[in-house]
Amino acid sequence: MTTADDSVLQVENVTLRFGGLVSLNDVSMSVPRGAVSAVIGPNGAGKTSLFNCLTGAYKPQEGQVWFTPAGGTRSQLVGRTPHKITHLGVARTFQNIRLFPALTALENVQVGVESRQKSGAISAMLHLPRSTRDDRESVAEAVSLLEFVGLPHRIHEVSAALPYGDQRRLEIARALGTKPSLLLLDEPAAGTNPAEKRDLERLITRIADTGVSVLLIEHDMRLVMSVATQVTVLNFGEVIAQGRPEEVQRNPAVVEAYLGTATDDQEASA
Ligand SMILES: Nc1ncnc2c1ncn2[C@@H]1O[C@H](COP(=O)(O)OP(=O)(O)OP(=O)(O)O)[C@@H](O)[C@H]1O
Ligand SMILES: [Mg+2]
Repeated sequence: MTTADDSVLQVENVTLRFGGLVSLNDVSMSVPRGAVSAVIGPNGAGKTSLFNCLTGAYKPQEGQVWFTPAGGTRSQLVGRTPHKITHLGVARTFQNIRLFPALTALENVQVGVESRQKSGAISAMLHLPRSTRDDRESVAEAVSLLEFVGLPHRIHEVSAALPYGDQRRLEIARALGTKPSLLLLDEPAAGTNPAEKRDLERLITRIADTGVSVLLIEHDMRLVMSVATQVTVLNFGEVIAQGRPEEVQRNPAVVEAYLGTATDDQEASA
């Protein structure tokens, strides 16, 4: 599968094992450029493991992951460090929010922005003064990202004190600070209320409208159906369906995967 198509990401035959447990089994899928797509599947299906393989947190034993940023060259992500992958243009949020709790909303987003600046990471490590210009730019960019995600009123609040839904949006702002071509969102709606879900739905659509490709892991099917143009379904580490949301929803294998886990846990060991 080496033909150039309009995918921002191509996952080819990825297998990830933990000892005897096969977390991902020969997974192949593609992520369309400039659109919102989704990965769904029952608990333990391998969704987060897939994100971890795409971002360098896990190294699959087999398979390849090809990433082509907007206007850039195609590169292999397997074997690269998370830091390098962020630099190439892949950003993520986490299923369990990972903010710096003692930092303000602004400072959290600055961390994302500064990871991109030359003087950022290295001068922080060496405790060197950063250039005033970089500082000014990172503040301005972080403020505009906080406005973009709808948190202009939270700029100086410590992130640990923010309501849960705001923390989720703050994580998205921080990820956007790295200027990604591809944004991976791991259950961004988890724990949010219906109004926050609607805001999130609009935010995800606006992110894609800016040209960023979005891949979303989500259990809320209403949200998936309303924002995603393509859905990939994982079950026990395997892709059991990929297509348009309405096709996937009617797919008998998908229906069975969901009903099976909802009604009969014994099937998990079958
Ligand atoms: N670091 C690890 N060590 C051992 N097993 C792991 C590790 N990470 C994931 N797994 C296993 O891989 C399988 C898939 O887990 P994963 O977290 O990817 O599922 P998921 O689809 O994200 O589930 P959920 O919807 O509950 O978040 C599970 O059996 C899990 O226990
Ligand atoms: Mg998960």
